[in-house]
Amino acid sequence: MYNSIIRPLLFAMNIEHAHRLVVAVLRAIGRIPGGRWLLHRAYAEEHPSLEREVFGLRFKNPVGLAAGFDRNGDIYRELSAMGFGFVEIGTVTPRAQNGNPKPRIFRLPGDRAIVNRIGLSNRGLDRAIYNLRRPHEGVIVGCNIGKNTITPHDNAATDYLKLFRNLYQYVDYFTVNISYNTTSQEYSPSSREEITAILNPLFDFRRGQNQYRPILLKISPDLPDEQIDLMTDIMVDTPLDGIVAANATASRSGLGSTHEQIAACGPGAVSGAPLTRRSIDIVRRISERSHGAYPIIGVGGMMTPDDVRAMLDAGASLVQVYTGFIYGGPQFAGDICRALAEQPRPETPKAETIPAGEEHSSDDAAAAPTAAETQTGPASEK
Ligand SMILES: Cc1cc2nc3c(=O)[nH]c(=O)nc-3n(C[C@H](O)[C@H](O)[C@H](O)COP(=O)(O)O)c2cc1C
Repeated sequence: MYNSIIRPLLFAMNIEHAHRLVVAVLRAIGRIPGGRWLLHRAYAEEHPSLEREVFGLRFKNPVGLAAGFDRNGDIYRELSAMGFGFVEIGTVTPRAQNGNPKPRIFRLPGDRAIVNRIGLSNRGLDRAIYNLRRPHEGVIVGCNIGKNTITPHDNAATDYLKLFRNLYQYVDYFTVNISYNTTSQEYSPSSREEITAILNPLFDFRRGQNQYRPILLKISPDLPDEQIDLMTDIMVDTPLDGIVAANATASRSGLGSTHEQIAACGPGAVSGAPLTRRSIDIVRRISERSHGAYPIIGVGGMMTPDDVRAMLDAGASLVQVYTGFIYGGPQFAGDICRALAEQPRPETPKAETIPAGEEHSSDDAAAAPTAAETQTGPASEK
């Protein structure tokens, strides 16, 4: 029904209008008693072989929704009911911001791709807190945090820390987004000094907390290999818990759409099928350099169960999808999980050791497995 009726209707609409409609419908379903239960019955797939423990959190399946879909945390419970193993909300910035002028998101159906230059449009920290105060009902919620576009680059760390402190009690993990690449004036810290200047205050704040919240870094697929190695080394050398690889790409290579179709989109970042190979290669590179000892969330062009399997085989502990969900529809996460459950991966041997990291707070010890317990738990003694 999605492919034959709903998708053609949604695809006939401007993509942002279609997105707003979907969010409104899901919110309305969530308000109906039993609404989320119905979504779960209709779409979700559960199987013990899908469950996994990564950075101390127990995931019901490895397929998450990537940042950018539920930017303000309006519908994370409904999305989880539809079969996602976790939902990353955001990017949230301290203050609400409009992003770039519309239209700013375009479909390229021939390429199963999306081009966006949305510019981190979101309703800000207060709105996110308002939404996250609702009972999570067991849903694993990550928050992707970013700086406001108007914040000077030198003050970026202040924006990240403000978000981290204020959201700390409301989410299960954080993704520090340094991968803005949709417009040239966006800020993308790239040196070790710039990145650790953002991360160190977060590590310091976390040390004083009773609860341990994993911190991941989201990177751009357009980084040259040496930069990807640098990000991996930062993960190994600091208490960073993992990497989310990767965001959408500024590259137009590999697109089969006509020159006119591509030009009609204007500038922006491409997501979807053209990204599959690059994102898997990046994950494999990070995994090999870090000896498979750190959690990596693989994202970019996960359009089929085979893509997801290849990503997991490349070293990802979890995957996220965005464009695949737009093209695949509400059953997308369930379909992928069903395929994974039908053909479970053989047990991979555990890494011998986890590089030592910062100590976890004692109250959260139960949620922070040791290296012996899981390959993908938070590093305990870096
Ligand atoms: C319309 C749109 C908005 C996005 N917004 C964000 C965002 O706010 N923050 C972020 O980190 N990534 C954002 N992304 C990137 C996705 O999270 C994901 O990394 C990327 O699309 C690659 O995955 P995919 O090929 O499955 O779409 C956005 C992607 C799209 C298509």
